[in-house]
Amino acid sequence: MSLSIVIMAAGKGTRMKSARPKVLHKLAGRPMLSHVIATTAALQAQQQVVITGHGAELVEAGMQAAFKDAPLRFVRQEPQLGTGHAVQQAVPVLPDEGITLILNGDTPLIRASTAQALVDACGGDKLALLTINLADPTGYGRIVRDPRGEKVLAIVEHKDASEAQRAIQEVYTGMMAAPTARLKQWLSRLDNNNAQGEYYLTDVVAMAQADGLTVVSAQPQEEIEVLGVNSPAQLADLERRYQRAQADKLMEQGVRLADPARFDLRGELRCGSDVEIDVNCVFEGSVALGNEARIGANCVIRNAVIGEGVVIHPFTHIDGDKDGVQIGEGSIIGPFARLRPGAKLGTEVHIGNFVEVKNSTLADGAKANHLAYLGDADVGERVNYGAGSITANYDGANKHRTVIGNDVHVGSNCVLIAPITVGAGATIGGGSTLSKDAPEGQLTVARAKQVSLSGWQRPQKIKR
Ligand code: UD1
Ligand code: MG
Repeated sequence: MSLSIVIMAAGKGTRMKSARPKVLHKLAGRPMLSHVIATTAALQAQQQVVITGHGAELVEAGMQAAFKDAPLRFVRQEPQLGTGHAVQQAVPVLPDEGITLILNGDTPLIRASTAQALVDACGGDKLALLTINLADPTGYGRIVRDPRGEKVLAIVEHKDASEAQRAIQEVYTGMMAAPTARLKQWLSRLDNNNAQGEYYLTDVVAMAQADGLTVVSAQPQEEIEVLGVNSPAQLADLERRYQRAQADKLMEQGVRLADPARFDLRGELRCGSDVEIDVNCVFEGSVALGNEARIGANCVIRNAVIGEGVVIHPFTHIDGDKDGVQIGEGSIIGPFARLRPGAKLGTEVHIGNFVEVKNSTLADGAKANHLAYLGDADVGERVNYGAGSITANYDGANKHRTVIGNDVHVGSNCVLIAPITVGAGATIGGGSTLSKDAPEGQLTVARAKQVSLSGWQRPQKIKR
């Protein structure tokens, strides 16, 4: 049976008090709406229809860029007259048969299995509602059942509910699955005679009843799946819950987190065995940590493959961006190191404090321990790159490469003006500024010669 997914994302999100459309606010590093689109892609729907309104251009452009292959479609809702009115806008693009699954763009953690269970509960001839029992149901639509507690009769919005109805703890989560043909008929009959003067999608429940359709309910596996975000506080709360769940999963795999409450993963993290992660680390994009890797406190690591036994000392920033960063086995990085896109380090490389590496390869055993810059460079095995030395890779218009052979020793405070090649085994005297290649095996010095003046006298203070 054909499945269409409708995701409501037109609301303003007034309580976010933000210029950014609510569904573009990020949870775990990606827009809330992206979570819903990505998760429900697993259902292989014929189409995913996103209802946009507030900030429509931004929302559409953002999702189109993030999901190039998804069967995405956007329908505008202007003005926003309620959830029923929102789904009404999708009617022209919905087929005449099959099932329509309705989700919310501001409820990011719905699971594919729960969404699928809702679709299955609908089965093409029933109206299926996703409901949950909440200790505090304030604000939610209440599920009104027959006196025996079986049949669902209606959803009553909090603002329209009687005292007795407000005591009901079973609430509508905002997600439902309906036979598309029926849904279209019901939507055409909605009115806005209610406390909020809105077209309520929830009114279709009573219509289904009147049409003799069975209204069934399904429940999520976890409460976190149906928590919607309306305010910065709710967003932060959901973020912490999500992070805790991710941290628990990693710890179950044996990863030792110093404090699961001070751990953030905004993407994917694959870990070998005996990995240790100290407090306040942030992982973004795709990161892999080899067996026995140790990450010190306060590191930010994005798009990197980190080998076995690597030690990353505190306050290190690794940003692989699109090119990625690779760190070979047994390397020691930081504290306060910065590895940028295209940094590829072999085994047992040492990168110390305040050293920046960009678009450079460092072969096995190379060391740059203090205050240095390596950009667009190929550094050989066992090279020792002195404190304060830099590759001058940019001439103001173009970038050029620096090639440093195996076993080179670059003294402190050197400037290697690229393009330049330093031959294997060469030694570069401290303070040299090289604009020409340095031959292999020799000492090259390019700085003013040291002179000492005998008989020179310091100036004396003049007495008046
Ligand atoms: C809705 C349900 C309520 C349920 C609650 C769960 C209705 C009438 N009520 O209430 O029973 O308990 O969700 O969170 O459906 N939206 C639009 N266009 C609009 C209005 C809303 O796209 O004109 C979108 C919003 O962006 C949001 C979603 O629909 O993603 C829900 O809207 P919201 O105003 O939050 O509905 P609630 O009042 O919370
Ligand atoms: Mg809401």
